[in-house]
Amino acid sequence: MTVARMPRDRAESLVATLRDRLAQASPVDVLRAAHDAFGGDAAISFSGAEDVALLGLCRDAGVSLRVFCLDTGRLHPETYLFLETCRGHFGAPIEVYFPEPAAVQRLVTDKGLFSFRTDGHKECCSVRKVEPLRRALAGAPAWITGQRRDQSPDTRADVPVVQLDEVFGGHDGRALVKFNPLANWTSAKVWKYIRAAELPYNPLHERGFVSIGCEPCTRPVLPGQHEREGRWWWEEATRKECGLHAANLDNAAL
Ligand code: ADX
Ligand code: SF4
Repeated sequence: MTVARMPRDRAESLVATLRDRLAQASPVDVLRAAHDAFGGDAAISFSGAEDVALLGLCRDAGVSLRVFCLDTGRLHPETYLFLETCRGHFGAPIEVYFPEPAAVQRLVTDKGLFSFRTDGHKECCSVRKVEPLRRALAGAPAWITGQRRDQSPDTRADVPVVQLDEVFGGHDGRALVKFNPLANWTSAKVWKYIRAAELPYNPLHERGFVSIGCEPCTRPVLPGQHEREGRWWWEEATRKECGLHAANLDNAAL
């Protein structure tokens, strides 16, 4: 059965209740709460990095949810292979969303393949990530991400376990509820879990990559460097959101 988006007022009161109840809850309990409210129509966005923990935690929770990945066309070869590894390991489909070919073609023809280095990443991310995310979430009642507070002191320090997403939902009076089950976990805790549960992981992590996005916009970090320093390193730290989580920026601008 397909679960529709909730009317905004109902979703607001659900989020208010869950926010208190889940503030310190384990990720498994958060995933169960998402499943209780929205069934298998709650959709996990899986980047092919350490958010693989979410797939293992769903298994632990005994819940089966939609899983999708945004293939920007610029992911590392290792990430593509890892998606296949996960499909086999978890025995579940991963929906893959691609950018609109005409929009990519226009961008690349006008500005080349590396416009983000000079113009900033907003335009390319908007074509390759944000528009496909809008399609992936079309009509979905709930969205589950691997965001954590410790991922970015500049933009994610206040990420709640559950919130209303006003960027990809809410415009028609119907709300999109966003869950961040790993919000309270640190990177160390995620990795302890990945190892204990013997989950597969992206081999780029063995080469100094911590946060992993598109190949031209991600690099390994040195010991002591923050993981976010490996993303869009030519840009200011306070702007390092690609538009998927624009709600993390004060003015929702990118
Ligand atoms: S990003 O916005 O800066 O690229 P980040 O890499 O920190 O995001 O990942 C945070 C969460 O955003 C992931 O756990 C995942 O839920 C979602 N996400 C990021 N990139 C993708 C992607 N390519 N496909 C699906 N989800 C993604
Ligand atoms: Fe484009 Fe880089 Fe954004 Fe990927 S991360 S969509 S390559 S600007």
